This record gives sequence, C-alpha cells and structure tokens, in this order.
Amino acid sequence: AVAIPAALVARLRAARRVAVLSGAGISAESGVPTFRDAQTGLWARYRPEDLATPAAFARDPQLVWDWYAWRRERVAQAQPNPGHRALVALEGRVAAFTLITQNVDGLHRRAGSRRVIELHGDITRSVCSVERCEVGAWDDTGERPPRCPACGAPLRPDVVWFGEALPRAALAAAQAAAESCEVFLCVGTSTVVYPAAELPFAAQRSGACVVEVNPDATPLSSSADFRLPGPAGTVLPALLAALDAT
Ligand code: APR
Repeated sequence: AVAIPAALVARLRAARRVAVLSGAGISAESGVPTFRDAQTGLWARYRPEDLATPAAFARDPQLVWDWYAWRRERVAQAQPNPGHRALVALEGRVAAFTLITQNVDGLHRRAGSRRVIELHGDITRSVCSVERCEVGAWDDTGERPPRCPACGAPLRPDVVWFGEALPRAALAAAQAAAESCEVFLCVGTSTVVYPAAELPFAAQRSGACVVEVNPDATPLSSSADFRLPGPAGTVLPALLAALDAT
C-alpha cells in the first residue's frame, strides 16, 4: 500500500481550491504509451518530436496523419483507469476543482471529470490545416489525410504540435487555477514541456502545497512539498481513501 502523509491529508481536507496537472503517465495504465517510453511496434523508429510538428506535417502529411490514426486507435481501445476515476471522486469532494491535462486522449472526460482544461487539444477532433475551418464529419474517400469539406485543404488532428502556441483561453484558465489553488497535484508528467511544466512552480510561488505523483523523479521532485512515488492508478485511489477515512 502507498503511505499518504497525514499532513497532506489534512491540507487536502482543508482545501477549498484544488488544481491538478496530468500528463501521459496517468494514461499509461490504460495502455496508452507515454511520450518518453520507447514507441512500440510500427512507430518504434519515430520520435514524437519528429512527427508532432508543423514541419513534419508539411513534409509528409500522410505519415503524420497515419501516426495519429494509429494513436486514435490505441485511445479508442483504452479505458479510464482507477487513477482517472480517483480524480473524478476528488472533483466531487472539493469546492473549486480544476483538472488541467496535457493529454489528448479524452480519458478524463470519459471517466466523468467535468472541469477539464485540455491544454494540448483532443486527438479525436480534426481541423482544417489551412483555414482552421470548423470540421464536423467528412466523407472518408480513403485519401489520407482527408480533405476539409469546406475548403479542400488537408485535415489535421486538433492537437498542439511542438512549436505551436497553446490555446490562449485554456492556458489562461490553467494559469489562473494554478495561481489560486491551495493544493496542486502534478500527476504523471515528466515536467519538461513548457508552458505546462511551469504550472506547478507557479502554483508553489502563489503559496499552494505542491504534490507530485510519479514513479520516477522529475525536475519538480526536489521542490515538491510532497512526493508520492508510485503509479497514479495506485497512489490516487490511496489518496482518496485516506481523504475519506474518518
Ligand atoms: N503513473 C504516474 N506516472 C507515470 C506512470 C504511472 N503509471 N507511468 C509513467 N509515469 C510518468 C513517467 O515517469 C514520466 O515522468 O509519467 C511521465 C510521462 O512523461 P511524458 O511521457 O514526457 O509525458 P508528458 O509529461 O505528458 O509529456 C508532456 O510532451 O510530447 C509532448 O505534448 C506532448 O503532452 C505531451 C507533453
């Protein structure tokens, strides 16, 4: 079992405003590979940094589209895990709860989380790669990438690529939540990709108690107020159980 410090339980019980930043690690136990794990199988020879970029899409739109189609397939087969579900339970126990995720797999929403800020987009949504036309369904002619029904440009996944700006409203809401919360949980992220990685440090500068949930050390580990070393699917349910214990 995972030991949850009593001091952390007390802080969490007393907190009205809690914010969470999640990364790929919370979906690892759902079978969705993290970015820093070795890519498996067909995509082993590619690095996300080489595919999730505007340049890669311009150079070989079909390759990038196929990589995301493979990832969408993995996500469609994935189910939320106890870590996702523990955050749904936590949302129900906190007056003002904000879940900020870097993940594009939609598993937090599928688990039932309500207040979710998707900083890096949603892999199941596609957008027009030129005019950013609103795209609903499109006829699958078999062409890859499919064409925007409105303007004929290739479609692309509605995710933030390396070098692209994050959605402004989402980032502003995430920063506001980080700077006003009393407890900030940082779960399953390597805390190396900015601006998301700045959020736990911004929270701490604003006086929040920062908790890291990660089996491995990260650049946040040395300054976190609490470090819960273990998989989110075990640690987060243990945290909720400690919170509910009389
Ligand atoms: N529970 C909790 N953490 C885990 C688990 C688990 N079961 N398994 C792995 N981890 C940790 C790893 O130790 C690592 O620190 O999750 C982290 C995953 O890190 P990354 O693969 O770098 O994923 P993430 O931090 O979300 O990447 C941030 O980088 O590639 C871009 O835009 C992409 O959103 C992504 C961003």
